[in-house]
Amino acid sequence: MGIAFKVQDDRPRKFLEWIWLRDNCRCASCVNQDTMQRNFNTFDIPADIHATETFLEDAGVRIKWSDGHESFYHWNWLMTYLARDWQFNPTLKGEREMFGASIANDPPQVTYSSVMASDKGGVAELTAKIAKYGFVFVTETPYEDPADTKRLLERIAFIRETHYGGFYDFTPDLAMADTAYTNLALPAHTDTTYFSDPAGLQAFHLLSHTPAPGADSVKGAEGGKSLLVDGFHAAQTLKRENPEAYKILSTKNVRWHASGNEGISIGPYRRFPVIETVEGSLFRIRWNNDDRGVLPLGPAGEVVKWYNAARKWDEILRRKDMECWIQLEPGKVLIFDNWRVLHGRSAFEGVRRICGAYINHDDFISRWKNTNFPKEHVLQSVRG
Ligand SMILES: [Fe+2]
Ligand SMILES: [Zn+2]
Repeated sequence: MGIAFKVQDDRPRKFLEWIWLRDNCRCASCVNQDTMQRNFNTFDIPADIHATETFLEDAGVRIKWSDGHESFYHWNWLMTYLARDWQFNPTLKGEREMFGASIANDPPQVTYSSVMASDKGGVAELTAKIAKYGFVFVTETPYEDPADTKRLLERIAFIRETHYGGFYDFTPDLAMADTAYTNLALPAHTDTTYFSDPAGLQAFHLLSHTPAPGADSVKGAEGGKSLLVDGFHAAQTLKRENPEAYKILSTKNVRWHASGNEGISIGPYRRFPVIETVEGSLFRIRWNNDDRGVLPLGPAGEVVKWYNAARKWDEILRRKDMECWIQLEPGKVLIFDNWRVLHGRSAFEGVRRICGAYINHDDFISRWKNTNFPKEHVLQSVRG
């Protein structure tokens, strides 16, 4: 029982049920106008609720209900739900531009003062650039006090805490200064593969880089370039060059874990593939070979297919044209989408003081939507 609509044939739906319409009444008493939450108990509505009268109006449909309530539904709201695709649902999918090595010549950036300004324009630009490129640099950031970097990141959303802490400011122990400070290179990886909900954004700010005490004053503070690889670009490349390998890495579920810290043993609630897709579209990359658990064996020979696919993936990630190398420097904060972009670094000498943090992906998306799109469009995107 419900109301039938005369709509174009390509609409998958022509009919909306009474109970669904009544449950989704848009009136100010049914939807709390402060919280936008449902303001009544759905199950107080009789199961046999139905319209006693319907009125077709220029702006929409008015319904008088058998329980005495009256509702009005705008045409654009109704058509959203009769449409094949939701009328407005911004996702990063529609925004992305893949990057390779050459983006290092002209990386996306915004200034610190624009992000900190009271209007939201700078935050809109910052989040839009992360949505598009997967990363952004914030230039001219004060670097005497890490608190400025923290305030900058909090313009996007609150900092996410993990078993390592929240916002961090790391300087190696100078009591160890007579041992040569050589810090190893790290291959491209994503962080926190071991959470059900891996860290969304990650930020780094190199506050200072000085020679270790007693080291050569020029050569003692070298290296430590940052590496960024577009994981979605790499996944597309894999799909093109070796569809079978792509299929394996996007379907074979793998165990990830963090068990190194005393009293900590973290793993996602289920196994996840390296390349996660949603309805066929790239959604998230999980790749840190060090945090990978033991692969489930499956039928004889099956596991070898995964290793061969992962070998191809690893080879693509290490291609020169995939690797974007950028020198971090004080004042330049790197913020990237850890669900898409892999990071690493080259070996370095000397003492680096770095601060940074994680931010949840949902909170980043919320900030991006609310600073880049009108409020009524954002609310429309909240699926019934
Ligand atoms: Fe990392
Ligand atoms: Zn109502």
